[in-house]
Amino acid sequence: MISLKSSREISLMRKAGEVVAKVFTKVGPLCVPGISTLQLANKAEEVIRKEGAIPTFLNYNGYPGAICISVNDTLVHGIPSEKIILKDGDIVSLDVGATLDGYCADACRTYLVGICKENAKRLVKITEECFFKGVSLIKPGIHLGDVCHAIETHAIKHGYSVPREFTGHGIGSHLHEDPYIPNYGKEGSGPILVEGMTLAIEPMIAEGKPQVRILSDGWTAKMKDGKLSSHYENTLVVTKEGYEILTLEKEIK
Ligand code: MF3
Ligand code: CO
Repeated sequence: MISLKSSREISLMRKAGEVVAKVFTKVGPLCVPGISTLQLANKAEEVIRKEGAIPTFLNYNGYPGAICISVNDTLVHGIPSEKIILKDGDIVSLDVGATLDGYCADACRTYLVGICKENAKRLVKITEECFFKGVSLIKPGIHLGDVCHAIETHAIKHGYSVPREFTGHGIGSHLHEDPYIPNYGKEGSGPILVEGMTLAIEPMIAEGKPQVRILSDGWTAKMKDGKLSSHYENTLVVTKEGYEILTLEKEIK
């Protein structure tokens, strides 16, 4: 069942979204060569708690980190570690959830570390574009599959692939709610969007083949072929006219 949020609930999610955006503003610039992913996660947790919020992912199904940090061929759910040190040319995703007054927001950015190769820059850029290609269609009355299809089409057009194991999702008082939102699909399929739905849409795009493997830590999802992967996500609400994204940074990106 897809729950529709009241304007009070949307206001609470907007506030949670502002906390997530603040993490990007504060921690994004720290993604430079030499820093460990644990240091980045600690800083993110500090920002979240200072705002009176809780890091949503910590202990979620036993996840051990405050946020997920995934480098290069790690697609998602990288566990912050003092042993993982960023180096020049890496790409690193910060996937951040914050819960404030019982409501969640969830978003992800992939940052370039130092000087990156053209292929890395292109993958990160196209992954963001996949999000906006899909989301720009959103308004009451369209099918969710239209959004999924637009994401997939843009990725394929650029020679990339779409891993199938992970999807976007509804979000609200729970991190994961109905509907699930694949990054692939058919136009005209799936639920019809209605004002008040709150969705986390998150293209996860691979430079090579789409197959992933999970490391023995039970979380870290890596590309089997060792090629790069990128992730971009925002939480949004379907409005009367279209949509409002709740997790965008206030400053110019
Ligand atoms: N953005 C991811 C998701 O929506 C992050 C979840 S990590 C977890 O699934 F640890 F909370 F599972
Ligand atoms: Co998510």
